[in-house]
Amino acid sequence: MTQVFHSIEPLAQLLYEHISKGEDVAFVPTMGALHEGHALLMEEAKKHQPIVVASIFVNPTQFNDKKDLEKYPRTLEKDVVICNGAGLDYLYVPEVFEIYPPSLNTELNLDLEGLDKVMEGAFRPGHFDGVCQVVKRLLDLVRPTHLYMGQKDFQQFTIIDFMIKKLDIPVKLVVIPTSRQKSGLARSSRNARLSTKGRQKAATIYRTLKSIEEKKHELPVPELESYGMKRLKKAGFEPEYVTISDGTTLQPLKVLEPGQYAVVCVAAWLEGVRLIDNLVL
Ligand code: PAF
Repeated sequence: MTQVFHSIEPLAQLLYEHISKGEDVAFVPTMGALHEGHALLMEEAKKHQPIVVASIFVNPTQFNDKKDLEKYPRTLEKDVVICNGAGLDYLYVPEVFEIYPPSLNTELNLDLEGLDKVMEGAFRPGHFDGVCQVVKRLLDLVRPTHLYMGQKDFQQFTIIDFMIKKLDIPVKLVVIPTSRQKSGLARSSRNARLSTKGRQKAATIYRTLKSIEEKKHELPVPELESYGMKRLKKAGFEPEYVTISDGTTLQPLKVLEPGQYAVVCVAAWLEGVRLIDNLVL
């Protein structure tokens, strides 16, 4: 049974005992509204580490739109059932005042060296400062040996990897491949807001990414990107970007060199829902 904690003290005591016995502790940060993708992340962590902790915290500092924050689904009872099913040991559900005590300056003011200025960062200014702030704070409180994140948020895990290295945080980042439905649609809490038809259509994003991968030797980068934009528009999406970037610096590429670590990332609106996905090329 997953044990649920609303404050860090008793949880930190238990985790300290595990670490003292030489047991590694994996940590899966989430904002709740859990789905099969989160469950697979927890199960994967549990396969490799003896103790797995997850957090549910809807982080106000990473929302640039207040309404988005208010609308964010809060489904704790259902989430606990999913955590139980995934074999999660501990679930940390803190209050805002524990993560951001008024007496503590938790702002990082970290220079993300341009990683935060492209793609998601260009459309959601300040978002990654908020993500770094909360992940750093959660790592300080939970002190895990391993941090598990999903590949679906490519820019997010790349920035967290950068932060871990830059601040020399003693944790090992493990990135788990995107969990997909049979249709190829990446699992996301936002899919629940799509109609049945919308969910079927949303799989076009993955098909478009796969076509870009197939055409990567035939077309130059700008044409691959505009092909992606056009295909999504034709299917009824409002795409924000289809960008091919270097997988480490996240800077847009003009040419794909053989063997280069490159990624194509997409953000597109469908039925008022913003969807993102990516594929390593
Ligand atoms: O990916 C998310 O759910 C959030 O950005 C994270 C990493 C839990 C930080 O709030």
